[in-house]
Amino acid sequence: MGLLPLYFLFLFLSVSSGEISNFVGVNYGQLGNNLPSPKQSVKLVQSLGAKRVKIYDANPGILDAFKDTNIQVSMMVPNELIINISNSQKLADSWVESNVVPFYPKTKIRYLLVGNEVISGSPKEIWPRIVPAMRKIRNSLKTHSLNKIKVATSMAMDMLESSFPPSNGTFRSDIADPIVKPLLQFLNRTKSFYFLDVYPYFAWANDPKSINLDYALFESRNITYTDPDSRLTYTNLFDQMVDSVVFAMKRLGYPDVRIFIAETGWPNAGDIDQIGANIYNAATYNRNIVKKLTAKPAIGTPARPGWVIPSLIFALYNENQKPGPGTERHFGLLNPNGSYVYGIDLSGKTPVSDFEPLPKPDNNEPYKGKIWCVAARRANATALSAALSYACSQGNTTCDPIQPGKQCFKPDSLYWHASYAFSSYWSQFKKAGGSCYFNGLATQTAKDPSFGRCKFPSVTL
Ligand SMILES: *[C@@H]1O[C@H](CO)[C@@H](O)[C@H](O)[C@H]1NC(C)=O
Ligand SMILES: *[C@@H]1O[C@H](CO)[C@@H](O)[C@H](O)[C@H]1NC(C)=O
Ligand SMILES: *[C@@H]1O[C@H](CO)[C@@H](O)[C@H](O)[C@H]1NC(C)=O
Ligand SMILES: *[C@@H]1O[C@H](CO)[C@@H](O)[C@H](O)[C@H]1NC(C)=O
Ligand SMILES: *[C@@H]1O[C@H](CO)[C@@H](O)[C@H](O)[C@H]1NC(C)=O
Ligand SMILES: *[C@@H]1O[C@H](CO)[C@@H](O)[C@H](O)[C@H]1NC(C)=O
Ligand SMILES: *[C@@H]1O[C@H](CO)[C@@H](O)[C@H](O)[C@H]1NC(C)=O
Repeated sequence: MGLLPLYFLFLFLSVSSGEISNFVGVNYGQLGNNLPSPKQSVKLVQSLGAKRVKIYDANPGILDAFKDTNIQVSMMVPNELIINISNSQKLADSWVESNVVPFYPKTKIRYLLVGNEVISGSPKEIWPRIVPAMRKIRNSLKTHSLNKIKVATSMAMDMLESSFPPSNGTFRSDIADPIVKPLLQFLNRTKSFYFLDVYPYFAWANDPKSINLDYALFESRNITYTDPDSRLTYTNLFDQMVDSVVFAMKRLGYPDVRIFIAETGWPNAGDIDQIGANIYNAATYNRNIVKKLTAKPAIGTPARPGWVIPSLIFALYNENQKPGPGTERHFGLLNPNGSYVYGIDLSGKTPVSDFEPLPKPDNNEPYKGKIWCVAARRANATALSAALSYACSQGNTTCDPIQPGKQCFKPDSLYWHASYAFSSYWSQFKKAGGSCYFNGLATQTAKDPSFGRCKFPSVTL
């Protein structure tokens, strides 16, 4: 040691301690037909105090808009390209050449994710191709000396078959050896991160009777959970979920791979049958997690005290074209017109007392009563008529009452017929997984649309 020149020692110190900072960023999803331009979005991202941004593709307009800012960018190879890239170094090279090289280093691209929640949402044959594709992409980056860009892939909590107690965290047996092990080996060898999507909201909303809401919102002062095996004590659900992944990695022999929170957040609104999706809870969760993640010195989690956890909140905007339940379209910090849904500062510097008061939550208890599913006002007539046919074709008697001469035929309008068909379909098929969505053409209502002798079927909660 005495023989090493001093500057070498400093070099070593700066690399080991300064490598990752605790900045919080935001996920810039684009599934809306009413969103601000990339240029306006950059300003909004900056005004939020975000130092990182993640996009779900390699949109050149967005990559270009972030040039000459100090915002670190994560970009993505789409799931659909993984198989082909895993088979061809040439394709990986050309992808990097056309999607990364033109923007680097003016745009501070730092992470290249190969796929988004591939295990959760894409066909099985893609799964074993993730790591081979990551290797090829990394080779291409090395060829261009793009050494600051780390390669990773983002994964959801459904990778685990057990997450409770946290010390029992275990990856699913169908993927642990063939897929997760090679992934962890790659991440360890390349000093990259396990990108994790973690949503205490969904865990709580699935079981609000057993899980305390304040515990999920980082608001509980007196509720703790002690893991009987590790003896670690938890004060919030987020730490519990993250540590279950830490223990699962440990079980596979990779205890030190760092975790990057690729997505977390809380919906500011949702459907009538979705508990706890409101502005009050969303603001509380996001403000509290920002405070935790930006704290200095770093807090970490019970299993990893003091570790820096880089992170990205989901999401920048409410995205009106995201499919699925209403919460999916309401994770935004911002409305599509750029206004704040609630006060938030991702740098963690604004005290909560500086924000406007929040509206009181009114759906923190499960909804009890009847719900109907009706056509959205101003729905596209061609699409609505197709959805009406679809809803009616699913059950033999679903649409009998709207046939000519029957009690719901009049008013003979597309809106009323579709509303009847959606309500009837939903009440018949909800148990089997049917939803009140129809590509955004349908919406839930607690107000009975029935009239005269025409009774609309309902779902009772
Ligand atoms: C993958 O490669 C096959 C064979 O070359 C091609 O037919 C297919 O279109 C490619 N898929 C994508 C998503 O580019
Ligand atoms: C621990 O995980 C296993 C599956 O990996 C599960 O069968 C078991 O019930 C879990 N233990 C507890 C106490 O939940
Ligand atoms: C925690 O504190 C609240 C308010 O002071 C109280 O109502 C609740 O019973 C306490 N819970 C526990 C588990 O001690
Ligand atoms: C990789 O694994 C080795 C052995 O567990 C460990 O010492 C090292 O810290 C790990 N590195 C990273 C970056 O995870
Ligand atoms: C922006 O959109 C929100 C939500 O739709 C709305 O409440 C607000 O009034 C709009 N603001 C402006 C300036 O249009
Ligand atoms: C209405 O929906 C149809 C079929 O889905 C589509 O082709 C058409 O472009 C839509 N029209 C408008 C105005 O959005
Ligand atoms: C519709 O009727 C057919 C023939 O009677 C029957 O096989 C089928 O199960 C029915 N479908 C539903 C959804 O009730």
